Amino acid sequence: MAEYIFDNTHKVTIRHFGEMKAKGEKISMLTSYDYTVARIVDGAGVDSILVGDSASNVMIGNETTLPITVDEMIVYGKSVVNAVKHALVVIDMPFGSYQVDASDGVRNAVRIMKETGADALKLEGGEEIIDTVRRIVGAGIPVMGHLGLMPQSINRYGTYGVRAKETAEADKLIRDAHLLEDAGCFSLVLEKIPATLAARVASELTIPVIGIGAGGGVDGQVLVVADMLGMTQGFAPKFLRRYADLHTVMTDAVKRYVADVKRSDFPNETEQY
Ligand code: KIV
Repeated sequence: MAEYIFDNTHKVTIRHFGEMKAKGEKISMLTSYDYTVARIVDGAGVDSILVGDSASNVMIGNETTLPITVDEMIVYGKSVVNAVKHALVVIDMPFGSYQVDASDGVRNAVRIMKETGADALKLEGGEEIIDTVRRIVGAGIPVMGHLGLMPQSINRYGTYGVRAKETAEADKLIRDAHLLEDAGCFSLVLEKIPATLAARVASELTIPVIGIGAGGGVDGQVLVVADMLGMTQGFAPKFLRRYADLHTVMTDAVKRYVADVKRSDFPNETEQY
């Protein structure tokens, strides 16, 4: 069996993230938004759990990540933290909670950390938010950057297509990645960019780079748990590997339950007092 830096009995810290990169051990990360799923994901040994603002889509059914609030992220964040013994828990700062100015960003960051007990926060953006990142790191809060496709900027892009295919955008992404590392980020997510560009960023930075739709040349991978477990339907980007078909499993179970209730098969004599 391979020797990992972590078995799933020790709490992962940001220092361990750096050690995994140094050792060449890939980092596994999945989203979770609630206690029950986070217990399963953590118990299965994932290195890090992201309480993503994808909760806006997955948990609330919004079209975009924009409407989710700090209050809502705190509820999801706390539910996950309550479940986790091993994984490093990172919470997304939602749209509007850090873009106004650095002081507002620090205030919201401190509130999310205080009220959830999370290990770190994630923010989307580069140069535009660099002062805020520096100030949050300065307050003692570990920050994970996020570049490439940044869903909080969907109204600027107009599409969820692959980013940084053109030289100018790729050059800016490389500059932003270095700025984020220099500002003190402990890690960086790259979403939906060409694999060669992502591999170049991972090789230039000393901090671990976690990819989603960014190829295999980075230091770790993250997926949305509902997508990789096959709970969602009709979302099939090229980068998504489905490890289960829970939509079918859950639908079958619910159908059998309904049928059993209708024909008075449930509960039976052993299932009552
Ligand atoms: O919100 C989220 O789930 C994310 C991942 C896609 C990286 O930011």
